[in-house]
Amino acid sequence: MKTISRTQFDSNYYLDLIEARGDTIRRIVNQLKPALNLSTALDAGCGVGFFGKILQDAGLSVRAFDGRIENVEEARSRFPQISFERGNVENPDIRKLGQFDLVLCFGLLYHLENPFLAIRNLYALTGKCLLLESMCFPDEEPWMLLREEPNREDQSLTDVAFYATEGGLVKMLYRAGFTSVYRMSTLPDHDDLCQSHVKKMILGQNAERTAVRLRIVSANFSLSQQVQNMPPLPAVSAESFREYASLSACLSERGG
Ligand SMILES: C[S@@+](CC[C@H](N)C(=O)[O-])C[C@H]1O[C@@H](n2cnc3c(N)ncnc32)[C@H](O)[C@@H]1O
Repeated sequence: MKTISRTQFDSNYYLDLIEARGDTIRRIVNQLKPALNLSTALDAGCGVGFFGKILQDAGLSVRAFDGRIENVEEARSRFPQISFERGNVENPDIRKLGQFDLVLCFGLLYHLENPFLAIRNLYALTGKCLLLESMCFPDEEPWMLLREEPNREDQSLTDVAFYATEGGLVKMLYRAGFTSVYRMSTLPDHDDLCQSHVKKMILGQNAERTAVRLRIVSANFSLSQQVQNMPPLPAVSAESFREYASLSACLSERGG
């Protein structure tokens, strides 16, 4: 008989978040799958495996990895039909997993001390598209803040993480090689995500490799404007920094 341990991911707060984001993943994947002819998926930073199961139920052949062996073992016990392994998204060795039509990277990027290297690794793993969800600061200027994180099974492996701005995420995606980057206009139905200045979902497409019909994708998926040629923004003011500092403090309290 399989043993299921109670983890951080089984708190009521987390279960609500998983449900809201799971609904969004289902909706997007159901539309992306026929449009992009998706058959394989990789869940990066999979925790105890819940989104891997959603991807599998959507008809994709799924692999998943997490940096913590205890999460990987728990995921294997919960979803024995999915292939889970230990892997570090910040280590280029992760590229040895190969390429996947869809790469899902939810709730991971802002827990890393090398987010740009991670994005480069994710690019190498992405055959057709990367669906990325990350906390970020509401600024189009590309900068990052180094934060301390609690030592917990759903956080950074090293207790520190660089936290980027939205503009920084977009820039890193383009510089890593993604040819089209979209902001999701509809976020999951959850209080944490409705504060759209805090959490963002972004789709990066590897269009050169896949010849995806971008017009159809954006029409079908409510993806808002392509984020190329962003207008220059005024320098970040002292007031904005105070706002970010209080946002950062508030995120630290919640764990994120
Ligand atoms: C906040 S949880 C997100 C879990 C799930 N993807 C979600 O969105 O709910 C972050 C997960 O990333 C894992 N993680 C942290 N740093 C990692 C790294 N460098 N490589 C792979 N996984 C990592 C943690 O162990 C944890 O399971």
